[in-house]
Amino acid sequence: MNITELARRLKITPKELKIALPKLGFHIGARAIQIPEKQAMQVVEVWQENRKKEKEIKKIEDKISKTKKEESLNEEKSKEKPKLVNIPSSIRVYDLAEKLNLSVMKVMNELIKNGVLSSINENLDYEVAAIIAENLGFEVNKEEGKKIVSVSAKEKAKDILKTEDKKKMVLRPPIVVIMGHVDHGKSSILDAIRKSQIVAKEKGGITQHIGAYQVKHKNRLITFIDTPGHEAFEAMRARGGAVADIAILVIAADDKIQPQTLESIRVIQKEELPFVVAINKIDRAEADVKKIKKGLSEINLLSEDWGGKVICVPVSAESKEGLDNLLEMINLVADLEKDKLLANPQGSLMGAVIESHLDLGLGPVATIIVYNGTLRKGDNIVVGQTYGRLKFAKDQYGEFIENIKPSFPAQIFGLKGIPQVGDLIEVVNENKEFKSQIKQISSAHFDQGLSIEQSLPQFKKEIKYVNIIVRADVLGSLEAIIGSLKSLVCPNIEIKIVKSGLGGLTEADVELAKTTQSWLIGFNIKVNNSVKQLIKESKIKMDLYEVIYKLIEDVQDFMKSLINPEITEKKLGKIEILEIFRQTVKEAILGGKVLEGKIFPESIARVWRLNSEGEKEIEGESKLLQIQVNKQDVKEVLVGAECGLKLSGKTKIEKNDILEIYQEIKCLPKA
Ligand code: GTP
Ligand code: MG
Repeated sequence: MNITELARRLKITPKELKIALPKLGFHIGARAIQIPEKQAMQVVEVWQENRKKEKEIKKIEDKISKTKKEESLNEEKSKEKPKLVNIPSSIRVYDLAEKLNLSVMKVMNELIKNGVLSSINENLDYEVAAIIAENLGFEVNKEEGKKIVSVSAKEKAKDILKTEDKKKMVLRPPIVVIMGHVDHGKSSILDAIRKSQIVAKEKGGITQHIGAYQVKHKNRLITFIDTPGHEAFEAMRARGGAVADIAILVIAADDKIQPQTLESIRVIQKEELPFVVAINKIDRAEADVKKIKKGLSEINLLSEDWGGKVICVPVSAESKEGLDNLLEMINLVADLEKDKLLANPQGSLMGAVIESHLDLGLGPVATIIVYNGTLRKGDNIVVGQTYGRLKFAKDQYGEFIENIKPSFPAQIFGLKGIPQVGDLIEVVNENKEFKSQIKQISSAHFDQGLSIEQSLPQFKKEIKYVNIIVRADVLGSLEAIIGSLKSLVCPNIEIKIVKSGLGGLTEADVELAKTTQSWLIGFNIKVNNSVKQLIKESKIKMDLYEVIYKLIEDVQDFMKSLINPEITEKKLGKIEILEIFRQTVKEAILGGKVLEGKIFPESIARVWRLNSEGEKEIEGESKLLQIQVNKQDVKEVLVGAECGLKLSGKTKIEKNDILEIYQEIKCLPKA
């Protein structure tokens, strides 16, 4: 191809092309006027690729310069009057920058100026963070610690136990919380214990992630609660501590006592939990159990074999060494705690929420632990600021269960809203009392001066979150990505950046993605094989990008795909049930008369019945599959006609019930 022709295609002059070619790795000589066709195609390809990259870099630079402009504007503003910020007792560099509305770079520079070298994810003490914020022109206020409601769950259970009939009391399994620094092996220990225990094998099922599991050791059940070690999960660790009876503090033998180890110790001491230290990863060459014991002794925790009281068990989640011993120690501690582990399964119900989330298909889901009494399917429950009827419950294997006994972790479904972690669960089976409690919950929100819609978004408007863990090669890109992601808007869908960082995805990221149901996103990074394998096994959504706009586009598309169609009911009519011909758990053949409207098959039947007080109540819903008149299938029946009906669904139907028949019409809300 002619050089002039190629230059024209690239929209530059031949002179510019000749200068650019060697830089792109093509050496054709200064005097050449022709270039082989194949090479010309390669030049075009490389050229376009380069232009794309340049555009990307320009976008990032623009974003950064925009942030810088905003920062300098902010600086100007802050000069006028120092802005007040609340800073907690410990805060990540990244979070501090967010709080101050400054770039991470700016905060890191200030840290370096003050002689503090730390990474973006490292925790700063309040004192350090306050100095940095003040230097950057802010007025600082120390944030009150988070109030963990669940502290009162155990307290309330204690009060209830005092009134219970002693003869009916039985020993419940101990609830053991696993705490410690990020990556020290908490989940691995729990996994190793779970896999080797009989309970899991007996059921043969794959354990579901519900954050709590039961295992059996020497025929005794133990309930475990896992907690994340990541800095951002301070409240979850504290909650774990507040609902447990015993703690296992995990410290990696190839590391040292770290900030979250200390924080876990603070929770353990605050909750006065008996605890066992598991010194993990002893299979590693760098493992040094003595060093860990020395570290503990320096904070006044002297190991038993050094003359102290702290039980230390060296273990390896990898080789399984020491795990039996760890379980043995837990049983021993549980024996000493016997008095506190009594419960009356027939008594008043007291339980607490240990995890909650919104399932896209099933609505609000809560993982709970019961301390006293038994929670049964169908119970009316009040959970903190929400309520509902226990539609169904699942155990740790995802199997449906009819009732939840003390210390047995379970997931419950049927709540109207998402409860808070630590909320107490109470059963109110007396209908009038239940209604009055619901009224109280609603009016409590009105008292705060909010409309019910504003105060109870979970009742009316369900916000779905897209949790994202993002890693990029350089800080500039990471900032640009986070900035762009945060600016995406979609009705009722919000982005939550669970974790962000530089460099490749790690196993800890995958673990975190599993716990938080996050989407792993990598930009210009590689993923090593073991992490890839883990992602595959965990069935987590992971995507890698080299172009920012593609990443943003994909996230935006994903958000759009989550928009729920608005469902409206189209009322068809009403039928009174005159005869029950046959009824099984799943199906019913009935005879009825159309009281109102026009009825079609393939619609939904809402079952209404009069209760003992003469009030109409909804019993449930079934699908209306088939309608017959004179034993012939028909497509519709009109008011006044008698017909045969075939319904599928679990709602038990009785004579004189009124079926309200409707169809669901779906339409997408306007974005
Ligand atoms: P977070 O939940 O993120 O706080 O971490 P964690 O404490 O639950 O740690 P996790 O179990 O996810 O383990 C972190 C890493 O350490 C993983 O790569 C594990 O494979 C590894 N690991 C855990 N226990 C052991 C062990 O006993 N030996 C060795 N060699 N590696 C281990
Ligand atoms: Mg973990």
